[in-house]
Parts: sequence; structure tokens; C-alpha cells
Amino acid sequence: MNTYQTSSPAVGIDDIAFATGANRIDLAELAGRFGVEPAKYYVGLGQSEMSVPAADEDIVTMAAAAAAPIIERHGSGRLRTVLFATESGIDQSKSAGVYVHRLLGLPQAVRVVELKQACYSATAALQFAAALVARNPEETVLVIASDVARYELHSNAEPTQGAGAVAMLVAADPAILELETATGVYTQDVMDFWRPNHSATAIVDGKLSISAYQDAIEGAWADYRSRGGADFSEVDHFCYHQPFTKMAIKAHRHLAKSLGSERTQEELDAQIEPTTGYNRRIGNSYTASVYLALLALLDGDEDLTGRRIAFLSYGSGAVAECFSGIVRPGYRSALRSDANRAQLDARTVVDDARYLQLLEDAASADVHDSDRPRETGAPFRFAGVVGDRRQYEPTSA
Ligand code: CAA
Repeated sequence: MNTYQTSSPAVGIDDIAFATGANRIDLAELAGRFGVEPAKYYVGLGQSEMSVPAADEDIVTMAAAAAAPIIERHGSGRLRTVLFATESGIDQSKSAGVYVHRLLGLPQAVRVVELKQACYSATAALQFAAALVARNPEETVLVIASDVARYELHSNAEPTQGAGAVAMLVAADPAILELETATGVYTQDVMDFWRPNHSATAIVDGKLSISAYQDAIEGAWADYRSRGGADFSEVDHFCYHQPFTKMAIKAHRHLAKSLGSERTQEELDAQIEPTTGYNRRIGNSYTASVYLALLALLDGDEDLTGRRIAFLSYGSGAVAECFSGIVRPGYRSALRSDANRAQLDARTVVDDARYLQLLEDAASADVHDSDRPRETGAPFRFAGVVGDRRQYEPTSA
């Protein structure tokens, strides 16, 4: 069992659930169009598939689907705050979380706000949530990370798209993960990835983004250590932001080398491998990705009770944060592991032609008036736009 610094009372993740798009494409389909070996994606990027939303899904529908089982289990009586993290926002003013608030029937005495800083903002949300709960342990906070990752078609970045949402309930005396108090942060103005207002897809300097990610992780780790964080050797598993799963492996090897760790490459890879199972099949879910890594780890075979997990969160532009937590006894009873795995398998397999059609359909969604075809089997759907007002409804409506 680890010795560790936590707040009093213990604050952390009391529940966690995810949702993704209704469809999946095997990256061999893209390899065919790009004229490369599938191994470039399967091995070189560590990605086998990516999720593709249905025409009537978006960040709101995925977010509501991820959060619904949490509200069903815990109710909303203690909920005071919803923090919605995204970098693929659907409105410049209104928080996507307000739509989710209505879809889930949450009480009016709840504050809702959206946070943005590329893939990092869910981590800021988690820290803000922990502070609110520490101030009043009777309250809970719902943190939702939801994104659809889109790059220019036929660019090298296209195979690193994806879509997904993770919802987490932050509470005192949490059932799953107790957060330790030390955190390390790092900010550097760098143009490695951004999305100007005129563009529906992100602009990225791929090679720069990889080095900026590694520099930021190193900086955040150093700050974490200087503020009483655990030594590298005291951490059992590391959850990294995973734009593609190989990035986590690269970053972990890089961090270990920079710290002079004596762990072998096999030992280092073994610390990461159990965190990659969901991202490998979903692709980049931007803000949600580091927490999908946690979910994959929790849903795995290893008994993690009492284990320390470090989180390395990165958002291009760039902000990084490192923090850690200890897995609580009995955590498995709070998970939905079978349902999580089933959700990935239940997605409809699409070929390249259908995938390209879905992308084209999505590009026409954000107009003054449009109807979306009924496609999704998820609990909530994006029905279209009427007079610039986005319409969301239960799929059963
Ligand atoms: N078999 C096995 N491996 C192969 C192969 C084959 N047949 N062909 C190529 N590879 C390997 C390459 O050797 C390379 O591996 P290494 O990096 O370990 O050498 C890997 O496959 C990728 O090949 P390339 O470097 O040639 O790939 P690329 O230039 O086509 O694009 C990319 C890769 C730069 C990541 C691009 O997909 C991209 O720009 N993606 C978006 C940006 C991104 O994800 N950046 C990550 C950090 S930024 C971040 O994390 C924030 C965020 O979410 C975006």
C-alpha cells in the first residue's frame, strides 16, 4: 500500500462512464485510400479503429449518454455544478452543458459552464471540481469531457480522428479514485494545433505537436515533483493523453529517460499497455482521452486496489498537468466494465465510402435550418436546427 498525501476529507472520482459514436471504421480502410500498409496505423500509431458519430450525434448527445447512467445511479440531489470540457464546441456562447442539463432533467439550482483549452480542459475541470467538493463535501460535481476530433480530409492527421465522451462524478469519500493533493502544471504559447473560428477542422503541425507534448509533460512532471508529488518509482500506472496510443508509449519512454529511470523498456510499456485498450478502438477523443485511458485501466484484469495512478494531461497550445490518485478498495463494484466493452463492439462497422459520406453530412449540420436523419441508437439525438436553434431530444421521442 502506498503512503500518500490526500486532502481531508478524501475527494475524487466517485463514478465514471463513457459514450462514443454509433459507428466505427477499421483504419485498414484509410490505409487503402492513403496507399500505405495498415501496419503504419495499427503499429506505427497504435490505432486499430476510430469512432465515427452518426448524423444525429454530436458532443451533446455523447455527453448526455455518458452522464445518464451516473445520474440514474446517484440522482441529482447533491449535484451543484456541471463542468463541460470540449475543444469541438457547437456554440460560441452557450455551454453545451446546458443542453445536457435539460436532457438529463437536472435541477435548476445547478451551475453549468463550458471549459476550453484543447485536450487539457477536462483536467482543469476535475481540479476545479475537487476544490468545490473540498469546500463543501456535501456537494457533488459532474465533469463531462466530450469531443469529435476532426482534421482536414486526406491529411496525415486524418487517421488520428475519433469521438467520445467521459463523464465523472466528483465527490467526497469517492468509490473509485482518491485524488492526491500535489499537482504539477505547465503552460507555453506554442502553435502546434489550433482551430480558428472560420475552420471546422483543426490545423496541426504534427511533428511539432509531438515534441511540444513531450516538453510539456516533462515540465508538468517537474512541477508535480517540486510540490510534493510521488517519485516516478512510486507510481504503478500512468494515464497519458492519447491522441494515438503510441504517443503515450513514446511520451512515457521519453519521461523515464529524462528522469534517469532504471525501469526497462518492457516494464515501462507494461505500465501503459492496460491504459490503451479503449483509445486504440475509439481514436482521439481529445478532452476525454486521458480519462478513457483510466477507464480502460480500471476495466482491466489487474486488481488496482491501493495502487497509485499518475495522470499526464496535455492540451496543445499548450497546457499540461500532472497529478495522481490512489484506487479505492471495492472500486470494481462502481464500474460498468461489461457494458463498456459491449458498447465498443455494438458500433456499426462502416467502410471508407460510408465514412466519407458521414463526414460530408456532419459538415452540413451547422446551418440555419436542417433536419438530421434518424440513425443513432443512443439515448439522445441531435434532431437538427430550426431558426439557428439546435434541437436535442430523447431518441425515443
Ligand atoms: N509499419 C509499422 N510502422 C510504420 C509503418 C509500417 N508499415 N509505416 C510507418 N510506420 C511508423 C513510423 O515509423 C512512425 O513511427 P515513429 O514515430 O515511432 O517513428 C509512425 O508509423 C507514424 O508515421 P509517420 O511519422 O510517417 O506518420 P505521419 O507523418 O503520416 O503522421 C502524425 C503522424 C504526425 C501523428 C499525424 O497523424 C498527425 O499530425 N496527427 C495529429 C496530431 C497529433 O495527434 N499529435 C500528437 C501530439 S499533440 C496532442 O496530443 C494534442 C492532440 O490531441 C492533437
